[in-house]
Amino acid sequence: MRNNILICGGAGFIGSHYVRSIIKSNNNVINLDLLTYAASKKNLSEFEKNINYKFIKEDIGNKKKMDLIINKFKPNLIINFAAETHVDRSIDNPSTFVDTNILGVYSLLNSSLKYWKKIKNKKNFRFIQISTDEVYGSVNTGKSNELSLINPSSPYSASKASADHLIYSYFHTYNFPCMILRPSNNYGPYQFPEKLIPLIILRALEEKKLPVYGSGKNVRNWLYINDSIDAIKNISFKGKIGDVYNIGGKEELTNIQLVKSICSKLDKIKPRNNKKKYESLIYYVKDRPGHDLRYSLNSKKIFKKIKWNPKIKLDKGLEFTIKWYLENSDWWKSIRKFKYKGERLGTNK
Ligand SMILES: NC(=O)c1ccc[n+]([C@@H]2O[C@H](COP(=O)([O-])OP(=O)(O)OC[C@H]3O[C@@H](n4cnc5c(N)ncnc54)[C@H](O)[C@@H]3O)[C@@H](O)[C@H]2O)c1
Repeated sequence: MRNNILICGGAGFIGSHYVRSIIKSNNNVINLDLLTYAASKKNLSEFEKNINYKFIKEDIGNKKKMDLIINKFKPNLIINFAAETHVDRSIDNPSTFVDTNILGVYSLLNSSLKYWKKIKNKKNFRFIQISTDEVYGSVNTGKSNELSLINPSSPYSASKASADHLIYSYFHTYNFPCMILRPSNNYGPYQFPEKLIPLIILRALEEKKLPVYGSGKNVRNWLYINDSIDAIKNISFKGKIGDVYNIGGKEELTNIQLVKSICSKLDKIKPRNNKKKYESLIYYVKDRPGHDLRYSLNSKKIFKKIKWNPKIKLDKGLEFTIKWYLENSDWWKSIRKFKYKGERLGTNK
């Protein structure tokens, strides 16, 4: 069946990978994105000639415009990746996080509900929200499953948790057909270099010091972008309405282990001119305020019910990612020049 898919936030990291993979299956796609600093038009250039694809620059919170777009396009799937996504920026300026991640989602949800109430084929429609593992907050022991307490600690995760609660309430109150997906830390090509993995790769290539927050002992669960997209696509069509799905990778490691692993891969792939190890660039900086010690997802539900499993091991995924940034310096050099130079954010000063 040919689907009409409205993708919100498809010019960012995960959204653009989703567009790339969904467009291959001959669906009609509208990619709607406000093009904030985190978006890149270069992420989209390869789709522009595709007749089944249209890009619209818009804010998910613009109710009038969203009503018009949704009523005209008649989507059977609305999937929302649009968000402010960087924890450090949420510490410096929470207001844009409230605007997009709470009020924007609220507005998008209302436009979607209004549309769904009008259509005949109600069963063929679904709304998917891309949430995050960070809504569970720090877990010192054990793992968070879909029924675990929501306990966010940063303005970013609190804004994402608020959206989850609103969406779930629309399922209970109006039977609105929605699902909430909670991926762990994604990484891979096209990720904006404020996030840990590309930040470290690019700073290392630029021979800059490699900052590690606090003791470096914070634990994260890493998921290669292709695995994440595979999971999202599978759940989009096979998932149960009203359900929440964790999407976790199988590898957890401390930030310092991760940074050292990137350094040793770079030593092999692109040795430094002075022959020193990249590890010698590592230094510890003051911790992020409110830094969650550990995220850990229990993803048994998606393994069992959707039969999805991550395929790319961190070792390989990091290699692919490093090589991509080496081969695509045009992409990140313009970001470096015009948007973000790699400086420390989120110090609460
Ligand atoms: N990257 C990760 O590791 C990760 C992990 C778990 C969950 N998530 C979630 O996945 C989603 C996508 O994350 P990402 O890493 O691709 O983010 P990103 O920052 O790379 O992209 C976000 C996109 O949303 C767009 N956007 C922002 N505000 C908007 C608005 N008001 N209206 C329309 N578009 C708007 C931006 O222009 C950008 O293209 C987010 O909801 C995020 O919370 C990300």
